Amino acid sequence: MEIKDFITKIPKAELHLHIEGSFEPQLMFEIAKRNGVDIPYQSVDELKQAYEFDCLQDFLDIYYQGANVLLHEVDFYDLTKAYLDRVILDNVKHVEIMFDPQTHTERGVSFDVVINGIKRACSEFEQNHGMTSILIMSFLRHLSEESAFATLKSSLPYKHWIKAVGLDSSEKGNPPSKFQRVFEAAVSEGYIPLAHAGEEGPPEYIWEAIDLLKIHRIDHGNRCLEDDKLVDEIIKRDLALTVCPLSNTALQVVKNMKDHPIKMMLQKGLKATINSDDPAYFGGYMNDNFNAIAQALPLTKDDVYTLVHNSFAYSLLDEETKADYLNKLADFNEKF
Ligand code: ADE
Ligand code: ZN
Repeated sequence: MEIKDFITKIPKAELHLHIEGSFEPQLMFEIAKRNGVDIPYQSVDELKQAYEFDCLQDFLDIYYQGANVLLHEVDFYDLTKAYLDRVILDNVKHVEIMFDPQTHTERGVSFDVVINGIKRACSEFEQNHGMTSILIMSFLRHLSEESAFATLKSSLPYKHWIKAVGLDSSEKGNPPSKFQRVFEAAVSEGYIPLAHAGEEGPPEYIWEAIDLLKIHRIDHGNRCLEDDKLVDEIIKRDLALTVCPLSNTALQVVKNMKDHPIKMMLQKGLKATINSDDPAYFGGYMNDNFNAIAQALPLTKDDVYTLVHNSFAYSLLDEETKADYLNKLADFNEKF
């Protein structure tokens, strides 16, 4: 079977997805219109032309601007439903969705509006399609520790809906150590700690994320490859990396897909996974990410299987559900 066919059909899990980054221009214009909010672009095409990024910050400026049109619970519901409708077509069976409450609460949209909309879409998909989902609340690292603490407090009435906390936004100049205390507080509330580290930031930030924040999984982590001791430590602690190929090339973390280090990561024994990060901005959803990197490197069918296996194995699912998905995955592999 062609690798493309294998990628299309294999059941998958997505572990690194910002729901605000799945906001397609078409839907953005639709919601802007009904909410009476101005978008500083005349058309979907003009907006898409602005999606040229030299670095993470270039992207974040546009990403936060896009999120400005989200005001009501139904907006967050529509946003999440659109993402789930799209990834079900890619044979994605389980998703771990990050949301950035501060992107919205800073604009006066309340925490409950955000989470109720997202959760309603997730629950519907679980009921109607058996698609499982887990929510990860991410703190914006360019904002203060105080703001992160306030966000943590707002989340407590919804603790039963949120499995983990994350750390995202502008990495350079905002080291994990800035959030050590808030992560300690989050862990004591029962949240699993995760963080973006080593996307643009140096290997030292990954050390801080694993030693100070005690994260269970590393979002991106590409720059660990600059430090052999760090690679050994990540393997020893059995921490997976949520790698995002199209994001990496769009944000110039990797100059060319042909140079992407995912194969090297697997060869070193790192538990890499493939994810879309912000699919509406970076040119593709799960299968697009797999296809782009599989063609460029190339990847073998075994590589793709390993990457998908890692996603289920290092998901935040309970052990029983995880085992069920892994059995189905093994059945699929045997048949093809
Ligand atoms: N927020 C959304 N996407 C992000 C990324 N790739 N890195 C950091 N913060 C983000
Ligand atoms: Zn991300």
